[in-house]
Amino acid sequence: MKKSLKNLPNNWINRFENYFPDNNNILNKVEKAFLIEKRKPVFRINTLKTDINKVLEEFKNNNIKITKIDYLINSYLVENAFENEIRKLDCYNNWEIYLQNISSQIPTIILNPKSWEKVLDTCSAPWSKTTQMATLMENNWEITALELNKIRLEKLKYNIKKQWINIVNSLQQDATKLSWVFEENSFDKILIDAPCTAEWRINLNNEKSYHFLSRKNTLTKAKLQKEILKSVIPLLKSWWELVYSTCTLAPEENEAIINFILSQYKDLEIVKIDFDIPYKIPALKKWWKQIFDSRVSSSLKILPSESTEWFFIAKLKKK
Ligand SMILES: C[S@@+](CC[C@H](N)C(=O)[O-])C[C@H]1O[C@@H](n2cnc3c(N)ncnc32)[C@H](O)[C@@H]1O
Repeated sequence: MKKSLKNLPNNWINRFENYFPDNNNILNKVEKAFLIEKRKPVFRINTLKTDINKVLEEFKNNNIKITKIDYLINSYLVENAFENEIRKLDCYNNWEIYLQNISSQIPTIILNPKSWEKVLDTCSAPWSKTTQMATLMENNWEITALELNKIRLEKLKYNIKKQWINIVNSLQQDATKLSWVFEENSFDKILIDAPCTAEWRINLNNEKSYHFLSRKNTLTKAKLQKEILKSVIPLLKSWWELVYSTCTLAPEENEAIINFILSQYKDLEIVKIDFDIPYKIPALKKWWKQIFDSRVSSSLKILPSESTEWFFIAKLKKK
């Protein structure tokens, strides 16, 4: 029997309806996305290691149809092959391309790190955004990449070596405890791609994936996200920017976090994200009894689809 949102555990359908108030069309799109078994692959070209035309030629020779994604940088959507086929190509095995979903690439593009900036990536593994930033920075200047998990950190060293990246200083470090490690005002740009409940990974055909829906986990993650932000904000220089992102739908980890930060830090302003992507939806104005600061609507929310994952992104600037 065809699965639907009604198959989710008790009360979650009600919660989901409230994620998209007054818009059944969006709820239907989310339901469809939760039934997708395999998304269309997206890759970006590692221009530190290869020539774009060489990669395009290899796809052509293998009869794999790709379309350039205009709003990303050197990124392509694969139309007629899945990831297992891409993983067989030479360009993949030589680290000349990197598989990374559309939505996952956008926080870095919004942060827009330049080759003369000092950047902090607070929650880095498995390094998709760190390596994307290094490519955009043309392997110049400096990225400090933190990760709590030692095993995940070790993989970075291998990953960046293979991609010919040498501007990343990696540290095993809890991002909630940074005042002992870095001086205030140390960084020009900061990315907080926060640990989250990753609710977009629900697959209605796989009941095991329903564990991503956990009220307790949502509240634990929201607490951790606030702690990370509180520890990181003092490290940002005045007039510079920070991007906060999650890949979960839960408003407690998205709008409510930005609402909290705007209420606590008068020296931070939100920067409106004007990003032209077909899958974006407005941020929530309220969640249950909590009415959000109207500035929270300047953030970006991306719907899951056959080619996108769910993402929430907000950009903050220190005055
Ligand atoms: C959403 S993932 C980051 C994905 C990564 N930015 C990328 O694009 O590949 C969150 C990461 O934060 C790490 N993490 C969790 N708690 C942390 C903490 N307190 N400090 C630093 N990293 C943490 C997790 O181990 C996980 O690797």
